[in-house]
Parts: sequence; C-alpha cells; structure tokens
Amino acid sequence: MFLRELSLRSFRNYDSLELKFSSNLIFFIGRNAQGKTNILESIFLSCTGRSHRTSRDKELIKRDHDRSLVKTRVEKLRGISEISIYLSSSDKKIVTINGTPAKRMGELMGHLNCVMFSSEDLKIIEEGPVERRRFMDMEISQIKPKYFYFLQQYNRILNHRNYLLKEIQRKPALEKTLPVWNEQLAETGTYITVQRKNFVNSLQNIAREIHKKLSCNTEELSLVYKSSVPFGTGDIREIKENFLKELEQRQADDIQRGITGIGCQRDDMLTAINGADTRIFGSQGQKRTVVLSLKLSELEFMYRETGEYPLLLLDDVMSELDPFRQAMLIEYIGRVQTFITATDLNQLKAVSDLKGQMFHIEAGKAREQAV
Ligand SMILES: Nc1ncnc2c1ncn2[C@@H]1O[C@H](COP(=O)(O)OP(=O)(O)OP(=O)(O)O)[C@@H](O)[C@H]1O
Ligand SMILES: [Mg+2]
Repeated sequence: MFLRELSLRSFRNYDSLELKFSSNLIFFIGRNAQGKTNILESIFLSCTGRSHRTSRDKELIKRDHDRSLVKTRVEKLRGISEISIYLSSSDKKIVTINGTPAKRMGELMGHLNCVMFSSEDLKIIEEGPVERRRFMDMEISQIKPKYFYFLQQYNRILNHRNYLLKEIQRKPALEKTLPVWNEQLAETGTYITVQRKNFVNSLQNIAREIHKKLSCNTEELSLVYKSSVPFGTGDIREIKENFLKELEQRQADDIQRGITGIGCQRDDMLTAINGADTRIFGSQGQKRTVVLSLKLSELEFMYRETGEYPLLLLDDVMSELDPFRQAMLIEYIGRVQTFITATDLNQLKAVSDLKGQMFHIEAGKAREQAV
C-alpha cells in the first residue's frame, strides 16, 4: 500500500499539517520533541484506531483544543481508501472510511496496515507477557477483523466472569450461573487461541529464515505460543473441551481469588535462540536482533496474508542498528513504503543515499527539503 496524503488538525503539537507523499522512502528529521513521532503516531492511529503509545485518546488532542482530525488517503491494489479519525474530548471517536462512518472500530482494520518499529519494541522481549500478547493481537487484528471482534467479546465476557466470581464470594447461590460464562469464554477463547497459535507458527517459519541471515547463520530463532489450555491434537472441539475442563477444575480457586486463572489473558509467546529463552539468556544485541527479525517477519507475514506490504514506520531505530542490520532493513525498504524519523541525517548513513522525500520537523511544522 502507498500512503499519498496525511492531514492533521489539532493533533498533538500540530495545528494544521498537510503532507503529500510521492516516494517510497520518507524521512522526518528534527531535534528532540519537535513532533516526529507524533506524525508516525497519527499514521498508526489511522491503521489501528489507537495510538501506539497511549490508550487515552484525549492526550492526542492538541492541548486546549476540543477535537482533532487525522485524515489519510491510501492507494492499494484494490483502489483508494480515505480514512478520517475524529477525536473529541467529550464524545466518542468517529471513524469514517471513504466518507461512511464505521459502526464499529473493527471495520477500520485492514484498510491501512502498518508495522511500527521503535526502540520501545525491545519491551516485546524484555517485559512481561502483556507486551507479547499486544504484539500478537495488534498484528492479527490488522489482517483479521473477526479476530478483533472476538478479542473485544472475550474481554467483555472475562470482565463479567471476574465480576461474578467476586459476587459469588458474597452470594454463593450465584455459582450456578457460572457455567453460562464458562461456555462463552471457552467458545471465544478457543478461537483466539487457535488464531494466535497459527499466527505464531507462520511467523516462526518466516522469522527463523530472517534471523538466520541477520545472525550470519549462527542462530536459530524459535517462537512458541504458550497456551494455558492444553492443545491436544489441535482439534477445535478438543481445545474447547479442554478450556471448559480447565475452567471447571479451577473454579473453586477462581472464586476464592475473585479472578479467572486460565485463558488467553494468561498466554504468552516465547522466543528462544538456539533453544535458550531470549528473555532470560539473550544479550542486549541478540534481543535487538530478535526484535528486528520479528518486525521484518511481520511485514512478510502481512504480505503473504493480504498480497500487499504494509507501511513501515521506523521511529528512531536506525541509530541503534549496526551497518549490517541497517542494510537488511534497506533490502526491504525498496519493497515497502517506509517512514523514518531521526534527529540527525548522520544516523542514516546507510539509507540517506537512497532517493526519498525529506521533511524537516520543527515545533509542529514540517518543511519539505530537497534531498
Ligand atoms: N496533546 C498535545 N498537545 C500539544 N503538544 C503536545 C501534545 N502531546 C505532545 N505534545 C508535544 O509534542 C512534542 C513531542 O513530540 P514527539 O514525541 O513527536 O517528538 P519527537 O520529535 O519524536 O522527539 P524525540 O526525538 O525526542 O523522540 C513535545 O513538545 C510535546 O510537548
Ligand atoms: Mg520521537
């Protein structure tokens, strides 16, 4: 896909911004705190309906303003999409796709896809499973709107079940209503588990090859989806039965603790290099390389699933990569429309020779410069 136009109104530190893109490679260069990441954030918002760095939409609206608008125009194999996201400090956000308001956020998924790569992505390896679940959920949601719906539904059912568990502590008679929620949780949870497992398997096949190249054939990367529900033979009915069995077996414990102890909200994705858990044994450089392998695999995965490469958003990551890894990224840059931020062109030695568009960003204003 190709992003042609981006327009912002009262978004973060921008009053009004109109950018037109004619290149596959776009640089945003500027000092710290001038608004480079804000631009990538607005593109990410247009893809997923949310920011990559906050769940509070109000933070995105320019201070002392009530509403903001992010508008994108994207060319795809199947035509042009125009996406508008209206944020308001008092009302719910509104998304329109080609002028038609979306009834649910899930409708946005798939119109504009992107992979964001920032230095914070090291969290995927270093921090707890929440980050890795977010990684999987974001990726699968973008290509499978149904997954996004199921995830929302699952979380709603889970919240209700947890509420009920606490209620049962006070009113034990309510326990007889629990099986209805178990059934719904197992039904939606099975779908999510299977989708995540399939995703991790596909990603593993791609990532292993990429990582091998990045490590000059010295490292074998493996990815494993770790489910809290036994998979058995992988048959969907069997997984659902296992899900129900686990819920029932832990019911007394769940009631005592007032929280659901198993399910998709507990699952994880493990990464290992030559069999050793990256999170525990990986060096800093190895962790960085695994993240790069994952990000490049995401691009390839989306391409295989949708027939088109997503946009690639590189926030401040070039300076952290050595020339060899920068070169690997560049190999992709030819095929993928890429947006790169940096404070200094010197950080981009490996790519700055390539033809592209350059915008100089200063205090919420962009000035295009001849390269
Ligand atoms: N809601 C908002 N209203 C007005 N200004 C905001 C808002 N949110 C953030 N900012 C401003 O945006 C600027 C930060 O923008 P951004 O994160 O894009 O910087 P950056 O150019 O990527 O910097 P760095 O190189 O440090 O990453 C800061 O000056 C911050 O005060
Ligand atoms: Mg930044």
